[in-house]
Amino acid sequence: MKKRLVIAIDGPAGSGKSTTAKLLAKRLGYNYIDTGAMYRAVTLFWLRKNLPLAEEYVCNLLPEISISFTNSSGELRILLNGEDVSEEIRLPKVTEFVSPISTYKCVREFLVEQQRKIGESGGVVMDGRDIGTVVFPNADLKIYLVASVEERVRRRLLELQQKGVVISPEEVRKQIVERDIIDSTREHSPLRKAADAIEIDTSNLTIEEQVERIYQLAIERINK
Ligand code: DC
Repeated sequence: MKKRLVIAIDGPAGSGKSTTAKLLAKRLGYNYIDTGAMYRAVTLFWLRKNLPLAEEYVCNLLPEISISFTNSSGELRILLNGEDVSEEIRLPKVTEFVSPISTYKCVREFLVEQQRKIGESGGVVMDGRDIGTVVFPNADLKIYLVASVEERVRRRLLELQQKGVVISPEEVRKQIVERDIIDSTREHSPLRKAADAIEIDTSNLTIEEQVERIYQLAIERINK
């Protein structure tokens, strides 16, 4: 029986993590887990409650939250208390608040525990900010994706436009830069490259090239 790896893919917003992780998982026959979607689901739950943005309010909500993933015709869907919120968690309102909410220690502990359970038996590609550093410090393969701000803005705009969201490039740039700052300077599990992660700059790579590169690294690890 072939070894089923835990593959961690971290990097800033718009570096190509989710597209790469999704395709890589498909090619390897692994499960893809989008941990950003889990932080977004918690944020959506809080938004619906109309509560102030404060750690204690968000922490108190956690026992009411159950997050799970399901596959619908090969597409990963995220369920919040049984409701499919895959589209709603991408709304600009959620994007606006997800970074501050993901700085809260209780939220991180709540989600990291679930992420470890999901990935413990291997055969998983997990993307996020702290997968290689905190969630799975012993992951079999750690990738850190980076890309220029210009390229990340271009990609995010395209993604939002495809979803029918109207937003200016300036606004997308502002959101990306703000999120970078919050994600990398927060006290708990900041975004950073694990010492043993392989860094790949995706600014000038096609999705196919990115996936191929990581796929080859995964095959090497499987055959080791
Ligand atoms: O990848 P994304 O844009 O959907 O992530 C949304 C936010 O969630 C991002 O601003 C940082 C946070 N996040 C995190 O703190 N840790 C993770 N493992 C994944 C996402």
